[in-house]
Amino acid sequence: MAKPLAVVTRRWPASVEARLADAFDVRLNADDHPFSADELRAALTDADALCATVTDDLSAEVLSVSGRTRIIANFGVGVNHIALGAARAQGIAVTNTPDVLTECTADLAMALLLMSARRAGEGERELRAGKWSGWRPTHLTGTRVWGKTLGVVGMGRIGIATARRAHQGFGMRILCFNRSRVSGTVLGDLAAEQLDSLDALLPQVDFLSLHCPANPESHHLIDAARLARMRPSAHLINTARGSVVDEAALAEALRQGVIAGAGLDVYEAEPEVHPALAGLRNAVLLPHMGSGTDATREAMGMRVLDNLKAFFAGQKPPDLCD
Ligand code: DGY
Repeated sequence: MAKPLAVVTRRWPASVEARLADAFDVRLNADDHPFSADELRAALTDADALCATVTDDLSAEVLSVSGRTRIIANFGVGVNHIALGAARAQGIAVTNTPDVLTECTADLAMALLLMSARRAGEGERELRAGKWSGWRPTHLTGTRVWGKTLGVVGMGRIGIATARRAHQGFGMRILCFNRSRVSGTVLGDLAAEQLDSLDALLPQVDFLSLHCPANPESHHLIDAARLARMRPSAHLINTARGSVVDEAALAEALRQGVIAGAGLDVYEAEPEVHPALAGLRNAVLLPHMGSGTDATREAMGMRVLDNLKAFFAGQKPPDLCD
């Protein structure tokens, strides 16, 4: 019997591509170029399964082709690049890869928090430029992290894992904002307090870390008005999605000292970064690498494989997005 055809839109870890090729007829992307809308439409026309990533803009318009694809198996937890309603209307199942990237993404949120607080990006740039003149008491002094207050927006898996690191590792007090009630056990373990309003949380925190999904409700959740509610000494950390922050407003707030610093891993129009951010000394800018460890990327791929195998065996995929 012919195997289902799976089109893979980016290079995946070699071990996962090999496993995928055992189970399916695969079309890989040898040069790892991002797929254009036409390539996505062609894939949706030919393939039984489209193995997508965050760089594939699967808009309602792209998904309007009546093709052969029955499942979009996303390599990643966020599915904001897929028009879920349009996929549903076409009878296409969508799956993602939760859990396996939680700890590594939380690690990167803490890395950004520490880099921003301790001016690590500035220090590295200075040293590499040959401008370091040696140790001195007033050189590149930053902000102490120990004992400070962290505000977590979105207490899902990654938000909780970040709060755990901050509280247990860095003695931080945790305040959080979440749409639904966070369990008393989770709050108790972190000695955390849930606030009913984001506006009430902002003036109380030294660091704000974003972990909410991207959707119309969270679009520009952090805008100029919300930045103005933060302390001038505060730092904003974003490992969620670029659209949650108004990047132009953030750049202006950093330039004017409305807040002290920002650590960003995600951007509104990736891979473009707002030009004003790149010139700011108090912005730490990483290229969307939250889940980027070998083990995690392999685990994400294996999770895609599990979803595909279940789907083509006629079972409900474990990570079906409703
Ligand atoms: C995720 O898993 O959502 C990462 O940001 C890559 O898409």
